[in-house]
Amino acid sequence: MKPIQVGLLGIGTVGAGTFNVLQRNQADIRRRAGRGIEIAMVAARNTERARQLTGDSVTVVADPFEVVNHPDIDIVVELIGGYDLPKELVLRAIANGKHVVTANKALLAQHGNEIFAAAQDKGVMVAFEAAVAGGIPIIKALREGLTANRIESVAGIINGTTNFILSEMREKGLDFATVLKQAQELGYAEADPTFDIEGVDAAHKLTIMSAIAFGIPVQFDKAYVEGISRLQAQDIRYAEQLGYRIKLLGITRRTHTESGEGVELRVHPTLIPTGRLIANVEGAMNAVLVQADAVGATLYYGKGAGSEPTASAVIADLVDVTRLLTADPYSRVPHLAFQPNQMTDVAIVPMSEITTSYYLRVHVQDQLGVMADLTRILADAGISIDAVLQKEPGNQTDIDIIMLTHQTREKNIDAAIAKIEGLPAVIGKVTRIRLESLG
Ligand code: HSE
Repeated sequence: MKPIQVGLLGIGTVGAGTFNVLQRNQADIRRRAGRGIEIAMVAARNTERARQLTGDSVTVVADPFEVVNHPDIDIVVELIGGYDLPKELVLRAIANGKHVVTANKALLAQHGNEIFAAAQDKGVMVAFEAAVAGGIPIIKALREGLTANRIESVAGIINGTTNFILSEMREKGLDFATVLKQAQELGYAEADPTFDIEGVDAAHKLTIMSAIAFGIPVQFDKAYVEGISRLQAQDIRYAEQLGYRIKLLGITRRTHTESGEGVELRVHPTLIPTGRLIANVEGAMNAVLVQADAVGATLYYGKGAGSEPTASAVIADLVDVTRLLTADPYSRVPHLAFQPNQMTDVAIVPMSEITTSYYLRVHVQDQLGVMADLTRILADAGISIDAVLQKEPGNQTDIDIIMLTHQTREKNIDAAIAKIEGLPAVIGKVTRIRLESLG
């Protein structure tokens, strides 16, 4: 049988990895897929460099529309990144009846609903394992492996750059700016690291997982996104003394509010008990913890980025699409796990309605009664204290008081923090970091 003809849009780090792994493992991949998978065309900005990578057997072009419009191409692999051009290319490929594999989390988190609807209409597949947590097959797990379950929550360390920075800050006691600079010099962090450090990349990935876990549309615009750039080294240290590690966690879970059922969708620095496996995911590694009713907790760990780990996911999608090419479109696995007419519109809850525990650091003048004032404000708000730590930074006239609370709604802690900041002995703003026991 003629090999499946693949057109690659972009041959940077992931594209080159895809090309190399497909070549290296072609015999096993053919045995698994039932037919050969061949990169027939590549669109690249630097065609000279692309030709050096691919050799003469592949057609290299500068215009990506030549690939998506070419009649011989069966599957288009979009590895360009960004929003506008990839969206146009993916929609054109779909309109031309081609299947699509993409690693583009930003594209799917923003425009996934439109893209999946177009693919559904045209009876083609859009596969995106590489878009979330690189080489970890988390899309496959959520969409197929856990299909018997009612999924309760997904919590993940899904950005390697920030996890690397947090690990370095903790291990070396350095501040954020110093570690970021080092990470950029070592090539771990992008020259413009905004999407990574401000939590946007993690929120893109979380948005996609949330849709699959709960059968809801992708709703990136409703996600709460807070990165690590304001995190202080002292909070990492205090958390450690209290038995916690701070991670940038993406959390999505079913919840109940006064107005009914909802879904939490949030990315922010989070204290996790040091004893949890996921708290010990260090460096640039990723991990996703899924809680589901039948199976219980399952944890998926691996490389969330990099040339061949991400290529591993891209090629898994190529094999899936190849196997299902001739299947009746209605018998294929739905893009977002649930049949399109079975999606629900359970609302993403506003941050004020989420329920979690908190780490609070209050900088105060060391005066009689200040601790009593703090505990009274929390008690009046119905917030129960779990632990207290008092630290003297050195000059003895002002101190840090650190408190861990039990679970409460975010609006309750917001109100309590406003009152605490109004106390005459309190200096500056209260530092608040959310805490998840993940039990
Ligand atoms: N920049 C991402 C990370 C990898 O640091 O994990 C691609 O999503």
